Amino acid sequence: MTTPPLLVTCGLPYTNGPCHLGHLRTYVPADCYVRYMRRTGEEVVFVCGSDNHGTPIVVSAEEQGVSPRALSERYHVHFDETFKRMGVRFDRFGMTDDPTDQHRTTSIVNELVKNGYVYKQSVHQAYCTRCKRFLPDRYVEGICPHCGTPARGDECDQGCGKHLEPGEIKDPVCKVCGTKAEFRDQEHYFFKLSGFKDFLLTFLDGVKGTSNAKNYAIGWIKEELHDWCITRTLEWGVKFPGRDDLVVYVWVDAPIGYIAFTEEWAAGAKEDWKRFWCGENRVTHFIGGDIIYHHCIFWPALLKAAGYGVPHAIVASGMVKVDDHKFSKSRGYVVWTNEDYLDRGLPADYLRYYLLAYTSHTKELNFSWKVFGERINNEVVNILGNFVYRTLFFAQKEFGGVPAGVVDPMILQEINKSLATVDRLMKEYEFKGAVDAIMALAAFGNTYIQTSAPWKLVKTDRVAAAQVIKNCIQITQALALLIEPVMPEKAQACWTMLGHDDEVGAHTVSDAVVPVTEGSIRTPSPLFTKMEEAQVAELDALLQKRVAEANKKMEKTPIVSFEEFQKLELRTGRVLAAEPVKKSNKLLKLQVDIGGETRQIVAGMQQFYTPDELVGRDVVVMVNLAPAKIFGIESNGMVLAAGEAASLLVPLKPVEPGSKIR
Ligand code: 2FM
Ligand code: ZN
Repeated sequence: MTTPPLLVTCGLPYTNGPCHLGHLRTYVPADCYVRYMRRTGEEVVFVCGSDNHGTPIVVSAEEQGVSPRALSERYHVHFDETFKRMGVRFDRFGMTDDPTDQHRTTSIVNELVKNGYVYKQSVHQAYCTRCKRFLPDRYVEGICPHCGTPARGDECDQGCGKHLEPGEIKDPVCKVCGTKAEFRDQEHYFFKLSGFKDFLLTFLDGVKGTSNAKNYAIGWIKEELHDWCITRTLEWGVKFPGRDDLVVYVWVDAPIGYIAFTEEWAAGAKEDWKRFWCGENRVTHFIGGDIIYHHCIFWPALLKAAGYGVPHAIVASGMVKVDDHKFSKSRGYVVWTNEDYLDRGLPADYLRYYLLAYTSHTKELNFSWKVFGERINNEVVNILGNFVYRTLFFAQKEFGGVPAGVVDPMILQEINKSLATVDRLMKEYEFKGAVDAIMALAAFGNTYIQTSAPWKLVKTDRVAAAQVIKNCIQITQALALLIEPVMPEKAQACWTMLGHDDEVGAHTVSDAVVPVTEGSIRTPSPLFTKMEEAQVAELDALLQKRVAEANKKMEKTPIVSFEEFQKLELRTGRVLAAEPVKKSNKLLKLQVDIGGETRQIVAGMQQFYTPDELVGRDVVVMVNLAPAKIFGIESNGMVLAAGEAASLLVPLKPVEPGSKIR
């Protein structure tokens, strides 16, 4: 039987914010894997797209006063361009709101219904009486019923990471207005996930990829597996067939995007998408560690129930920290791909290298500019760059290019050893190990050239010096071919300097041991430039500034819930009398009618108003402020005023004293 073609996908970015390091931690390794597998001669298709539906997008669009489609289009273009700038090349980058995904989702949901896997049931759903709407997913926040941590409606994002079903969250509060939500019954559609326990355990036992994905998922399944509510009360999304008032849950149509984008690619390439999705397949999903549940549980069960092939491999990346802090946009622990990196002229390849070489794919990546600078300088520049430049410089200077002769079998053996290690590790998704093996070959080259010292040898034995250089050029060729999946631009530059006119990516990695032939090369220049200390310090300062600003913002403007706001009793009051407080040049003593009750209030307004100006005016009073003695005088409330000149807040239309401010 022939091996099915490889289809690689990446988790789809939501279209409600720009690309950051957290995204790249998944996309760069996926791109590296795709490039590598292609260069072993495999047929590989690489698809992704933007995730346009669901509450994250609706909430952001509402905040920005644009339509969810307009917001999605804006960020769709942003991600498409950013990935290209980072050298991440998808064969198709689609949108889940486009017709292909809408059609495929409708078709799959119909299949699920037809096959008897969907039923209707009434559920208690969080409802906001103030906003007068049901609160799906991220419209609601509360407490995780499993671990007691604050959570959002569909996921315990800060605690145990569990997916939450509608109605599960405890103490729900409306995210938009802060009102305590209540539960109301509403009819929804459920997928019979609980019946898939045995299937999933068998599936997970055999699925390829990284062990973190399958181990987490197996643990969750063994604990409990409930049926899954697959509809939401939203306008934006893919309509549930036959129901105008419901859309399917975003986690249904988003992964179906993987199929839809394959269809879109296939239509353009005159290919058959079914080869990738029906029956035996090699679908490989690269995802962030936070969406394992969706890809290892929901998704394979859906595919199975609808009669499609199930994923071949699930590769989940570890978490990203910034400066030892949990990655957090609101706290400033974030690195924006464009603003902080590419727009400053920093090479995409440096960041690709760092992301791949820092640690194992499944482990935590703790980003810091300092370590970034060190690793680029100590590894990329000093080992790889140094070896390549020394080799090519000397070859050009002494021999006008690649000298004649036969490459030492010992050198070819060393390269073959590297090829085997890289191949094994890439296929095990151990990208760090693979990069280390490539760098070890560069280090070997450095030691070899250093100990052979052809610059000395050439004075006494020109033939021996030529042999050393020939060997070094063979290693350089191997390095260009091997490093291409990691640093495609730099690999191409190296390849071109070696005298080639074609694309390095068009060669299989095994060409690394094809003997280099005598001939000219191009005038070499250093492949890499060092990260200057000042530049690293500047990047770090930018990050620290962002964190400081975020801190300040958080301190200054704590979020107040509607309940908390309601605790303030604000009423209009009519000033009945006013007089200066003796021995004070700031204070006035006021008698204010707050509706059947007269309050004495001391206010710092003497500089701005004469007593006459105030008497008879309607003002706004905070009525339930704790009483205080000011200048020895009892003050019972506060008159509200704005700005330096204490401009009084007054009702625009006449109102009775004591009218409640709402
Ligand atoms: O968590 C997220 O960012 C989602 N937008 C990922 C979706 S991946 C998929 F489509 F399954
Ligand atoms: Zn509300």
